[in-house]
Amino acid sequence: MTSDGRAGESVVLGDDVVLSVDDLVKTFTVGRFFGSGEKGEVSAVAGVSFDIHFGRTMGLVGESGCGKSTTARCILRLIEPTSGKVYLQMPLEGEGRESIDIIAADRKQLRALRRQMQIVFQDPFASFNPRMTIGQTLDEPLRVHTSLTVSERQVKVNDLLQMVGLSPSWVDRFPHEFSGGQRQRVAVARALALNPSFLILDEPVSALDVSIQAQVLNLLEELQDDLGVTYLFIAHDLAVVRHICDDVAVMYLGKIVEWTTTDELFRQPMHPYTHALLSAVPVPSPKLERKRSRILLEGDVPSPLNPPSGCRFHTRCPVGKDKEICAREEPPLKELQPGHKVACHFPEAKAII
Ligand SMILES: Nc1ncnc2c1ncn2[C@@H]1O[C@H](COP(=O)(O)OP(=O)(O)OP(=O)(O)O)[C@@H](O)[C@H]1O
Ligand code: SF4
Ligand SMILES: [Mg+2]
Repeated sequence: MTSDGRAGESVVLGDDVVLSVDDLVKTFTVGRFFGSGEKGEVSAVAGVSFDIHFGRTMGLVGESGCGKSTTARCILRLIEPTSGKVYLQMPLEGEGRESIDIIAADRKQLRALRRQMQIVFQDPFASFNPRMTIGQTLDEPLRVHTSLTVSERQVKVNDLLQMVGLSPSWVDRFPHEFSGGQRQRVAVARALALNPSFLILDEPVSALDVSIQAQVLNLLEELQDDLGVTYLFIAHDLAVVRHICDDVAVMYLGKIVEWTTTDELFRQPMHPYTHALLSAVPVPSPKLERKRSRILLEGDVPSPLNPPSGCRFHTRCPVGKDKEICAREEPPLKELQPGHKVACHFPEAKAII
């Protein structure tokens, strides 16, 4: 139960919506100065809303510190959000589905929800117990959450290894005996052990060599096709996002500033921040590349301890930095074209790539 005693309520989501995030907020209270006792508030996630549709991959992109991982951790209730709702569509025993608010879920509901949603982190080494073999690592969720017998679990562990392209004969090896790419495959196998319907991939290939990245991305795509699992894919590399995501939400300093399909985002981005991000993505044609100019943003990302007034991007925005309304009024995320939402007072559809 949540602090006010409500268990997660059930609502009806659109048929193909797997996850619906509604006005999610996470503010961290931190000591601002050593020894002064003064407190500060870090506005890490500042009212984020989006839906993810069945079998699709939604990318969450933005610079370091913009709140991507905090959003993910709140969705999974690894940390408690300050406010907001997150509905996950769950299959009911028998037939039919219901959507439960993860944030208000009680312990029993959360246990059931946790079987349906899993996460893969950037650094699988950090999320493995170095003293457990890969077999034990994969067996753990099965032992805790299912009533399978020991031999049934062994079969399942072998299946999982094969599913991610690893040999079942490696079941007794320890994490340090695997390469980075292989360890990430094991992390994916562990995340899929309980047949979840929704997987968060938090920068799953950022720590890997570029040649290995493509292999792991291809594996994730194949698994999605085979299992119908829905992904939230967190990344800062837009080339990776273009490769794997169906939809993209661009985040800046705790807010979503643009959200649409990947094709539309790359074809005609409308937010000045997205223009700048895309202008930094190299294009394959050297002739085209020479003609393009990079949009350089001034200054660093402001601190979420004291975010700018109005539009949080106004201190660096080439379009709005001198406009009074941008400093005063926060632009709402509005649907400007079907399926294309933008939070900007002066949006402009612009071909960048
Ligand atoms: N436990 C915490 N206490 C205080 N501040 C935090 C905490 N966790 C995250 N933050 C702050 O919240 C903001 C968002 O952090 P977050 O890790 O979500 O960003 P991110 O987009 O995932 O960045 P990266 O790309 O570097 O992984 C940052 O300013 C970070 O310093
Ligand atoms: S609202 Fe103003 S400052 Fe913000 S992105 Fe749009 S033009 Fe730039
Ligand atoms: Mg992160």
